[in-house]
Amino acid sequence: MKTVIEKLTTDLNRQDQQIIQKAGNIIREGGLVAFPTETVYGLGADGLNPSASRKIYEAKGRPSDNPLILHISCMEDLAKIAANIPPKASKMAKHFWPGPLTMIFQKSGMVPLETTGGLDTVAVRMPSHPVALALIQAGGGYIAAPSANTSGKPSPTMAEHVALDLDGRIPMILDGGAVGIGIESTIVDFSEEIPTILRPGYISQEMIYEVIGEIQLDPGLETENSGISPKAPGMKYKHYAPQGELVLVNGAQEKVQEKINYLVKEAELSGKVAGVIGTDESVDGYHCGIVKSIGTRQDEETIARHLYAILREFDSQNVEVIYSESFLTPKMGRAIMNRLLKAAGHQVIEV
Ligand code: TXA
Ligand code: MG
Repeated sequence: MKTVIEKLTTDLNRQDQQIIQKAGNIIREGGLVAFPTETVYGLGADGLNPSASRKIYEAKGRPSDNPLILHISCMEDLAKIAANIPPKASKMAKHFWPGPLTMIFQKSGMVPLETTGGLDTVAVRMPSHPVALALIQAGGGYIAAPSANTSGKPSPTMAEHVALDLDGRIPMILDGGAVGIGIESTIVDFSEEIPTILRPGYISQEMIYEVIGEIQLDPGLETENSGISPKAPGMKYKHYAPQGELVLVNGAQEKVQEKINYLVKEAELSGKVAGVIGTDESVDGYHCGIVKSIGTRQDEETIARHLYAILREFDSQNVEVIYSESFLTPKMGRAIMNRLLKAAGHQVIEV
């Protein structure tokens, strides 16, 4: 299959609208289109069409028990796919939609089990990216979309990343440039008594508390070997991993730098290509290896935005071992570290 890459502007001029209509037709006919959202690129299909959903799993090599998020473009459409909407969830929607929030509800009969990985609940998100919203409307209103990477790889934050993973497997990629946030949406489960965060993201526990009060964190998220499985099936898989081995170093900044410099030298002596992930503030302190800045600690959003791209850059330079600083920043730190720890298979050196 030939993959067509269509470049779009975010002001969606006439020509862009025509491209989106074409993309919407592919979705309506049961096909796949990759598209930008404000978090990461998604791989979209008609989420109410079982065979279209199955194509997503095939293209990504995704385990069939890992459910998809259904993307909508207006509030009225939520009531058709969610069997009941608790008042707190409506409050959340008013506050954070369109935006980087996914909520889980009991599903209605309209949603096929192929889309929910066999579960009787459905994950729903209304993204804010103009291309995503326009495509959802053109595609019939309900687009199932996981991140548009091959299963296990870092999520794509640029159309080029999608093409690297899925070229030849899907008919169209909508290229809306680099995304703004860079890590996936916060997932909040409203299908049980107490609202629970199943995946941390840009919208933090504190921000949610301000809107609805009590909000807990899935206990399966916090510790690696606690014996408790995360409730979101996708959170149990090794994920976001670069080809090289990733190791995090955690502790006081000076000691971290000293340790990473030592580890890189050691890796190079044993003939390995080594990489370092630092920040604008720290990169000058690293003397060997391929050193990259992920962003600045003055603005934690830059760190989230570059996380996946930097992991892919190391892949393209055939780096075999990567040492990274930790980034437990005030707002998005939990989400950033959740992704980094998974990418590192929980290898952390404390100094
Ligand atoms: O920002 C995002 O959410 C991006 C963009 C494209 O919207 N999408 C995304 O989808 O990250 P994906 O498939 O890569 O991650 C969806 C996560 C998985 O961990 C999945 O297990 C979980 O959501 N999930 C989906 N439906 C669920 C359900 N009914 N119950 C529990 N977890 C669910
Ligand atoms: Mg994903």
